[in-house]
Amino acid sequence: MENLDSANKILQLGTWYHTFEINNIKTKGTYDYTSLINELSFPKLDNMKVLDVGCSDGFFSRYFMEELGADYVLGVDINKYDSSVAFEVLNSFENEYSEKYQSHNDFDLLSAEYKELGLENSNKFLFIKKVFNLNIDFEYGSIYDLTKFDNFDVTFCGSLLEHLRDPITAIEQLYFKTNNFCIIDISNTINSPFFQRRKALLEYTGAGGNFFRYTNDSVKLMMETVGFKNVKVLNNYKIKIEKYGYKIPHSLIIGYK
Ligand SMILES: C[S@@+](CC[C@H](N)C(=O)[O-])C[C@H]1O[C@@H](n2cnc3c(N)ncnc32)[C@H](O)[C@@H]1O
Repeated sequence: MENLDSANKILQLGTWYHTFEINNIKTKGTYDYTSLINELSFPKLDNMKVLDVGCSDGFFSRYFMEELGADYVLGVDINKYDSSVAFEVLNSFENEYSEKYQSHNDFDLLSAEYKELGLENSNKFLFIKKVFNLNIDFEYGSIYDLTKFDNFDVTFCGSLLEHLRDPITAIEQLYFKTNNFCIIDISNTINSPFFQRRKALLEYTGAGGNFFRYTNDSVKLMMETVGFKNVKVLNNYKIKIEKYGYKIPHSLIIGYK
């Protein structure tokens, strides 16, 4: 590709949420799904159009395109890539998150490289689109209001619900935009205690920006309640947080229209 040096510098020195392997470079992501992803039981997406809500750097969007046969992906994220906080946090946590988001923005460090690639900010989704030459687009938007977007064959929402105050509105918005099926990946899931094993539980974490932990049954119940049918767990898995070295439980859940 053109401007290979600039791209490689961003891959090597940039802040990455996911590990990508490109040009023999491995980005230092918070999460490395590169080998795990093929074991997660995602269905094939041949010729399907996908809406990836909370798409971040587009790791899953690229996987849908390059490995699962999707025809097109629209990634939507609330991140403006201007260092402002891209999560709904309680007011009392705003300063803490603000510092975190400023420290994560690598645009000041790599502005010359981004500009050389024709990129105006540090949006990694657009970087990935360019580097892999993918038929994907990015739009700024919130999961709480997807009305401006078309309907898609498939909707996907990865590791976002646990950060939201109002997961039910979010799932309902996904339902409205889904033609065939919706896949939700949810992080930090919990098991119901044995004596409450038939209860759909969610637990407030006490945090100001990572609000709830869910049992699989609670996610399934929310999906069923907004109208999804044949809701089932595709996979329960654990993934390491590279910085801390411990593994965090996830659930991948599918529901059909
Ligand atoms: C924890 S990351 C998960 C990224 C990716 N989907 C994955 O599965 O690894 C959550 C993403 O959701 C975005 N986000 C947060 N609140 C959002 C909202 N209300 N609507 C859309 N995106 C949101 C964040 O900016 C971030 O990119």
